Amino acid sequence: MTGEAEILSIFEHIYGVGEGVVVASAPGRVNIIGEHTDYNEGYVLPTPLGHHTWVAARSRGDSEFRLYAHDYRERYSFTLGEQRFSDKTRWANYVMGVVDALRRRGYDIGGADLAIKGDVPQSAGLSSSAALEVATARALKQLFKLDIDPVELAYVGKSAENDFIGLQSGIMDQFCASLGKRGEALFIDCRDNSYRNLKLPWWNTLVAVHTGINRKLDSSAYNERVAQCREGVAALRRVRPEISSLRDATAEDLEAIKGKVPDLIYRRCRHVVSENARVLSAVEAMELNVGSKLGALMYESHVSLRDDYGVSCPELDALVKVAMDTDYVLGARLTGAGFGGCTINLLPIHNLRDFVEEVPALYREATGLDAVVYPVQPQ
Ligand code: GLA
Repeated sequence: MTGEAEILSIFEHIYGVGEGVVVASAPGRVNIIGEHTDYNEGYVLPTPLGHHTWVAARSRGDSEFRLYAHDYRERYSFTLGEQRFSDKTRWANYVMGVVDALRRRGYDIGGADLAIKGDVPQSAGLSSSAALEVATARALKQLFKLDIDPVELAYVGKSAENDFIGLQSGIMDQFCASLGKRGEALFIDCRDNSYRNLKLPWWNTLVAVHTGINRKLDSSAYNERVAQCREGVAALRRVRPEISSLRDATAEDLEAIKGKVPDLIYRRCRHVVSENARVLSAVEAMELNVGSKLGALMYESHVSLRDDYGVSCPELDALVKVAMDTDYVLGARLTGAGFGGCTINLLPIHNLRDFVEEVPALYREATGLDAVVYPVQPQ
């Protein structure tokens, strides 16, 4: 059964057969390079996954929302205008956050029944939450005939995250869920929302690997990084007032604040500035079709995230090392926010089978943990 047929049959089972059911979906994503740059108006390079979240919805004609999450076999309901953060039913917050964001932006919506299911791995750093937000926003757009373009739709998802959930995340995940094309990388400039699709270097493929350690993204560690970047910008502005975000800072600017700010702040800024440069080099490597260059940049990105940005963990480091120790993986790094979750690996397609057989086994030897492999573009 296709995802669409499956969610329709779940919907009918829960709410009954009837006219007017719409179905929408959105994919998870994996980021190839450009980590913790989006909320600094920088560059990112994610690609959508083959895993999706599906939402079926029907208008109710009143102001009630009834939700059913098939993956948890859980229900939740609320009245439009009275959506409140729930500590107990966390998945419902993403739907309420989208409803809240649409209303704040003045979109006219009514109550609805929603059924939700998905196969995007959760707490893996693969953006299952953005997939849920974008799929929900797409379903409500169809249902209430909202005039809303895909970029604005991504910002509705971001607002759910920032204003309802309380995570000060950037736009990458929702942008990729809303505008990404399967099998292509999406190069986004998070300053002006311009974007362009790119192909992977020929004969190469991407594989995400879960460390077996769920991403421990408590919003406080993430929001702390956002605040540290702001602190860096404030110091940089004293040196060069035209700097408005880390996107504007150069390596020379960083030298100018070295010793004037705590070393931690200096290193956080150094990660963002160097990561932006790596994304631009990665784009060049993809355009010139040089897999080895792209891979080397991915390894460098991991070191910077580990040592300067402080968002890795021993398991992510072990998984990158195992990949690096093979003679065919071209590049590997933690992907997403960090603190657990997945690595992303670049390798020649003809080594995919070696990778699947060897990397989890070597990782198990090193850590005793079971890794899960997700080919990003199954051949
Ligand atoms: C999370 C956030 C994104 C981005 C990444 C780190 O996935 O939702 O906005 O900041 O972390 O690159």
